[in-house]
Amino acid sequence: MDLALTGRVAFITGAASGLGLCTARHMAAEGARLVLADVNEKGLADFAAELGEQGTEAETVRLDVSCYDECQAGVAHALERFGQLDILVNSAGVGGSLSFFAEAEPEDWEQTIAVNLIGVMNCCRAVTDHMIDRRYGKIVSLASEAGYGNEKRMVVYGTTKGGVISLTRGLAIELGRHQINVNAVCPGVTHTPMTHYVDEELERKSERFYPLGRLGQPEDIAPMITFLCSDKASWITGQAIRISGGFGRA
Ligand SMILES: NC(=O)c1ccc[n+]([C@@H]2O[C@H](COP(=O)([O-])OP(=O)(O)OC[C@H]3O[C@@H](n4cnc5c(N)ncnc54)[C@H](O)[C@@H]3O)[C@@H](O)[C@H]2O)c1
Repeated sequence: MDLALTGRVAFITGAASGLGLCTARHMAAEGARLVLADVNEKGLADFAAELGEQGTEAETVRLDVSCYDECQAGVAHALERFGQLDILVNSAGVGGSLSFFAEAEPEDWEQTIAVNLIGVMNCCRAVTDHMIDRRYGKIVSLASEAGYGNEKRMVVYGTTKGGVISLTRGLAIELGRHQINVNAVCPGVTHTPMTHYVDEELERKSERFYPLGRLGQPEDIAPMITFLCSDKASWITGQAIRISGGFGRA
């Protein structure tokens, strides 16, 4: 399917690694121009160089999504460079501590909430004026299976992802009249640097919760994000789409 992203400009946070990086590759293959945003400046530079060699126009922006001023400055920079912004993918995120909530302290949840929830709000707000003016926009955020049904030791992380799902639904309702689509994807455990702790034994144990018998790969997630950012998905909004091999129903 030709997703017709040629000429579109996509702002992707968390683009230096994992799902953000894989999504950027898919969007580049569909012809989009990219703004790659992350705290990892070196990762961004290496990736942008690789994309440049393949002929993709990619700008990098070092920013911390938990800082609203930096998000605003990043979006302003993108607009200066490309003159428009069509797509926002919120992939920047942290796994947070795996402690039991009853044993946790504020420092165990403050950063996770600041990045995973407030960071998504910051970036959404930073693009909305421009998208409303243009009466065009696609926003896709990375939530998680954990945002649907929380799990032990993931109470804080799951809470942030539940917040992203709720934010997605609310924004879709507010922004629909401006022709802005807002969706989320909810991956199950997927092999990326964030889940480096998943060794063979843990993978074998987890597989029984996944009817398709395996954990995810970035390639399982990025095509859906790219599709949701295209006009082929024009009538889809306010959805939190689970991509998790049927998790929980084995
Ligand atoms: N991998 C999984 O199993 C999984 C499952 C469900 C949801 N998710 C979500 O998908 C998203 C991407 O995760 P991933 O697996 O690709 O992880 P990852 O660690 O590979 O990539 C996350 C990226 O976000 C960047 N980042 C972290 N904090 C930042 C900040 N404050 N500002 C800007 N950038 C920041 C990191 O530098 C990194 O490049 C996250 O929101 C994560 O919660 C991942």
